[in-house]
Amino acid sequence: MLEERIRFKSLMDKVTDPDTACRHIQDGTNVFISGFTAGYPKLIPKALVRRAEAGERFKINLFAGASTGDAVDGVLAQAGLVAWRRPYMSNRIMRKAINQARIRFKDDHLSRLSAQVRDGGLGEAHVAVVEAAGITEKGHLIPTMSVGNTPTYVREAQKIIIEISSEPTALEGIHDIYIPEDPPYRMPIPIYRAGDRIGKPFIEMDPDKVVAILSSQEEDSCAVFNKPGEAPRKIAEHILDFVAHEIRKDRMPPGLPWQSGVGDVANAVLSGFVEDDFFQCIDIYSEVLQDAVLDLIDLGKVKAASGSAMTLSHRARERFFNELYRYREKIVLRPVEISNSPEVVRRLGVIAINTAIEVDIYGQVNSTHLMGSQLMNGIGGSGDFIRNGAVSFIVTPSTAKGGKISAIVPMVSHVDHSEHSVDVVVTEYGLVDTRPLTPRQVAEAVIKKCAHPDYRDLLWDYYQRAIRTSGGHEPHILSDAFAFHERYMATGDMRVG
Ligand code: COA
Repeated sequence: MLEERIRFKSLMDKVTDPDTACRHIQDGTNVFISGFTAGYPKLIPKALVRRAEAGERFKINLFAGASTGDAVDGVLAQAGLVAWRRPYMSNRIMRKAINQARIRFKDDHLSRLSAQVRDGGLGEAHVAVVEAAGITEKGHLIPTMSVGNTPTYVREAQKIIIEISSEPTALEGIHDIYIPEDPPYRMPIPIYRAGDRIGKPFIEMDPDKVVAILSSQEEDSCAVFNKPGEAPRKIAEHILDFVAHEIRKDRMPPGLPWQSGVGDVANAVLSGFVEDDFFQCIDIYSEVLQDAVLDLIDLGKVKAASGSAMTLSHRARERFFNELYRYREKIVLRPVEISNSPEVVRRLGVIAINTAIEVDIYGQVNSTHLMGSQLMNGIGGSGDFIRNGAVSFIVTPSTAKGGKISAIVPMVSHVDHSEHSVDVVVTEYGLVDTRPLTPRQVAEAVIKKCAHPDYRDLLWDYYQRAIRTSGGHEPHILSDAFAFHERYMATGDMRVG
């Protein structure tokens, strides 16, 4: 099997076992891995853990495309092997270690990281560890279910370790790999439609840098999507009704591509198209493609779906692999610096939908930190899309923790996206288009239409007192704004991990 997948025959000499391969990684090594919710290496992390369990003391600096799950972030954090981690992660064990300052973490816009690596800003790329479906006749890599930052990591790395996966080789052709020149020589990225292909179907690699190749039977852990609950379904309905209304009124052109963030709410929004009659066939220009995209392709409702990775449930994964030849015609997987490129997102006029932890009455958004202190996951690609989308929606259920916490607050405890980037705020109760409104009008509308009824009086009381006490363009009473959050401290629910 390995022989068929390694078509550049001289690389067969590099086939070895994980324990030997991972000796290229030592204390202080900068390790750049493939992986973006899927497509991460699985054997090397386990081999590193075995060394730690045998008593060896070392730590690595770990750079990925985005989150990788238990098989990488979980096991390495648990074993205390990570000194630095960048960018986005979503693992509970790692999150706890970051919040306890046992792992150093800096949150990055995902679209920027590859260029930062190329300009040397993140240190030397000592070793790249990448999962691949195969190696071409000319020694180039065929990625698996994600692209992320892998093209740059492979180009910059001093040494490359490859885990050849057992994912179908029919994945060949789904990827579109293009690394832009860096400033001041960068040219426009020539994507004019979501489905445009501008690069090569493989990642260019110098075979001389390959130090080890492993044969892997391990699979990505699958996503679990809950059937959309009442709140996500309502949020999806509000958005689709709003966009359809704007198109009918000629305030938005038809045919703009859609981006939808990660998680259940994001999946529910795309699922909303299944039963919608107005939107017959859409383009998707997003970051992570989830189950709902396959449903829409099956219904003939997708012209093209572009992303950097696919995160599928177990059932959707089977379906995808069984009919890859069909899905491959519609799906393009790109480097994250292209899927999330501010230039392309703005040119295409992407309708961006991303999830918040909390939103304040004036439209500032916190997507990353509970109570301003505790990291949840990271900003991911949300900033890339929210700042540059043609219309940017911020969505959240109106409450969290079984209703104990209002997601609409007087002032966010941490700012990821400001009122200047956020166009429309949506909860299950309603939607506010902030664009034609003054900040005071936004506050009134958000309290009346988006806040949960149990919290409207409290928020209204705050807003009225702020007008009387401070006045101004965006009235606030700073001490009271944060007292609103502190009421929840006693519940103990504010801790993460
Ligand atoms: N206060 C306290 N806790 C809150 C909260 C709030 N206002 N809002 C949400 N939470 C908690 C939930 O209770 C849940 O906790 P649990 O895991 O202990 O059950 C957790 O945060 C996740 O919330 P959930 O409702 O399950 O939403 P989600 O899975 O859709 O995640 C974000 C929401 C914001 C954390 C997630 O979308 C994210 O990380 N976004 C940033 C990156 C991003 O947008 N990427 C996409 C770009 S393409």
